[in-house]
Amino acid sequence: MTSALRLEGPAEGLASLVFDAPQSKVNVIGRELITELEAVIDDLEHRTDISCLVLMSGKRRNFIAGADIDAIESVTDPADIAEAVRLVQGLYARWESLPYPTIAAIAGSCIGGGTEWALASDYILVSNRPDVRIGLPETRLGILPGWGGCTRLPRRIGLTASLDIILGGKSVIPYKAFKIGLADALMPAASFHHHVRDFARAVIDGKPPVEKRQAGFKGALLEKNPLGRKIVFDQARKQVLATTGGNYPAPLRALEVVRVGLEDGKTAGFAAEARGLSELAVSRESKSLVHVFRLMEGAKKRAMGRALKRSAVLGAGVMGGGIAQLLAAKASLPVRMKDIASEPLAQGMAHAYGLFRKLLERRRLTQPQLLQKMNLLRPTLDYSGFAAVDLVVEAIVEQLDVKQKVFAELSRIVPEDTILASNTSSLSIEAIGRDVRHPERVIGMHFFNPVDKMPLVEVIVSPQTSSAVTDAIVALCGQLGKTPVVVKDGPGFLVNRLLMFSMAEALTLLEEGVSIPVLDRTMKKWGMPMGPITLTDEVGLDVATHVAGILTEAFGDRLQVPQWIGRMVEDGRLGTKVGKGFYRYDGRKRLAVDPEVYELLGLTPREDDPDVVEVSHRIVLPMLDEAARCLAEGVVRDAADLDLAMIMGTGFPPFRGGLCRWADDEGTAGLQTRMEELAGRIHPRFEASKAFTEVVEAGGFYARYPRRRAPDEAA
Ligand code: NAI
Repeated sequence: MTSALRLEGPAEGLASLVFDAPQSKVNVIGRELITELEAVIDDLEHRTDISCLVLMSGKRRNFIAGADIDAIESVTDPADIAEAVRLVQGLYARWESLPYPTIAAIAGSCIGGGTEWALASDYILVSNRPDVRIGLPETRLGILPGWGGCTRLPRRIGLTASLDIILGGKSVIPYKAFKIGLADALMPAASFHHHVRDFARAVIDGKPPVEKRQAGFKGALLEKNPLGRKIVFDQARKQVLATTGGNYPAPLRALEVVRVGLEDGKTAGFAAEARGLSELAVSRESKSLVHVFRLMEGAKKRAMGRALKRSAVLGAGVMGGGIAQLLAAKASLPVRMKDIASEPLAQGMAHAYGLFRKLLERRRLTQPQLLQKMNLLRPTLDYSGFAAVDLVVEAIVEQLDVKQKVFAELSRIVPEDTILASNTSSLSIEAIGRDVRHPERVIGMHFFNPVDKMPLVEVIVSPQTSSAVTDAIVALCGQLGKTPVVVKDGPGFLVNRLLMFSMAEALTLLEEGVSIPVLDRTMKKWGMPMGPITLTDEVGLDVATHVAGILTEAFGDRLQVPQWIGRMVEDGRLGTKVGKGFYRYDGRKRLAVDPEVYELLGLTPREDDPDVVEVSHRIVLPMLDEAARCLAEGVVRDAADLDLAMIMGTGFPPFRGGLCRWADDEGTAGLQTRMEELAGRIHPRFEASKAFTEVVEAGGFYARYPRRRAPDEAA
């Protein structure tokens, strides 16, 4: 076994423990490392030649990436986990009690178990490099910081600040780490090691530049008395319940563990951590969240393709403005932003500036960088500069004839290998590129609104699109910080197709008398980020009707959208954007359901409580059956990609692991029985398709459509 921990020195009392895992880009704390650390600490405890020990990383970008996810994923017995947790807690406690001061010198991403190791050190020094992050993301994986994090962090930075990190599973930038007291000093990246050495020397000389923080309880006045703390805990609990709808057990459990650690002392805190972590790690929610984490990691590994150097965006509206800003912000690409009118161009520039300003305020960007980024954006009313671009993203009006004309025009102006991408949300990519010379370069790049926030891009390939073009766009999405999912050209592509089946059923339920608040509440409780009626308002009734039209034409009776939806559009109830839809709005703020809607549509909401399980099944199962069809048709390549697209594109609840994963966990055979029952009692549209029956026969979605790796993808 090659060792991952290397002791350097001591020289005049100063030694360093360098963590540098062999054959790995990151330092992960797994079984082998723990064994090694045990031996190292046995030695360190008896060293009399060390006066100060610095913990550092041998990796360029990573300090410590935390615990080994495989280990968390595979465990099934809480007792095994509790034992492993206590072992590491014991090692960190021994590190904390070493007979000389320790310093964690962080100059790379420091996550989970890495942060907890740093917290067991006397001092934490951090490099001011922009990509450094320090965090405790455990609750995002459905577990909690169990190697001392829940107990030590509040002692170091106070209760409120630590709850913010622990309950949100957050990471902070170096400046913030310093500001909240997580780091004792913020040091220039270029000469970080010199500064660390000077700091350590000062510690050895008995004149540390800052006071040791571990000893006393830091925190605001409110947190220093039991009553004040109770207020903080109660508020945090309310907030967790409001944001998670009670569907995520980890933050609530972490809150309780933090409370025990503060009220009953460190030993009780560590014991509560071990119990909490071991019970959470075997929960269905945690297994699903780890599954989602894996899906996201898998998507990141696919980024290989031709690098793009100059871009253009057509249309500076809602989407085009956002896409142009993103290309400049994340990929540092020069962007020609073309529109047919100057007003949208001015608005597009103002929108981009607004987003860059926010980054500046959050110290993610400096003023010169902001100017540099804004300089990349060049608004124009003509095609000047287009002869040099290798990518055009089109985001103009959603009209096939206009897009066809513009694409044909473009293909005569730009070089013949320039990629032509459309952000269309409903039109066929093949049809858009009909008159383009070299149609193999035409592709769909379907961003979601708002561009800067929504993580998914559907990369839509037509039968003509070349694989080199697909690879380049997939790679670009990675650069843009987006998750790409490659889907086949076809009505509604993947996400809108599935979504429309659930939205249509929600509208049918409304027609049957289930009230708007009941529908929205039920699906929010089920875990969706917003209810289906709120979502329809958000999407816009005009857009929803347009997409519904395209899909009904394609799928006939299978998709039944109530006819009255047209009346909403005629009445000017286009949704959130006009402040009037199913709900009433004050600006973008949603107020109450507009009672006039029921009148307009001639509907009477039922007074009695409907069966909410049935409501949720009726909304989810049509979408699930359609998912099986999409997989059978090859619209999406496997169940993992489908789940990723639904989580990233619609906010499908991560604690359910994705649509297919949820169905597999529930048991697809049982869900099929449910579909047949609904088909018999309500309407034949609920009948399971042949594609779904195949899934059931194979033993589930992941068994029928297992993860397929791209040829260039690492295992
Ligand atoms: P928008 O109406 O806000 O912006 C369209 C812009 O294109 C306008 O500024 C218009 O002046 C400009 N334009 C029209 N013809 C042009 C031409 N020939 N050359 C250059 N510019 C031209 O529309 P939005 O919402 O940004 O949508 C654009 C595209 O993105 C559509 O295809 C839409 O389906 C798609 N999309 C929209 C989403 C949304 O939520 N708004 C989500 C995903 C895709």
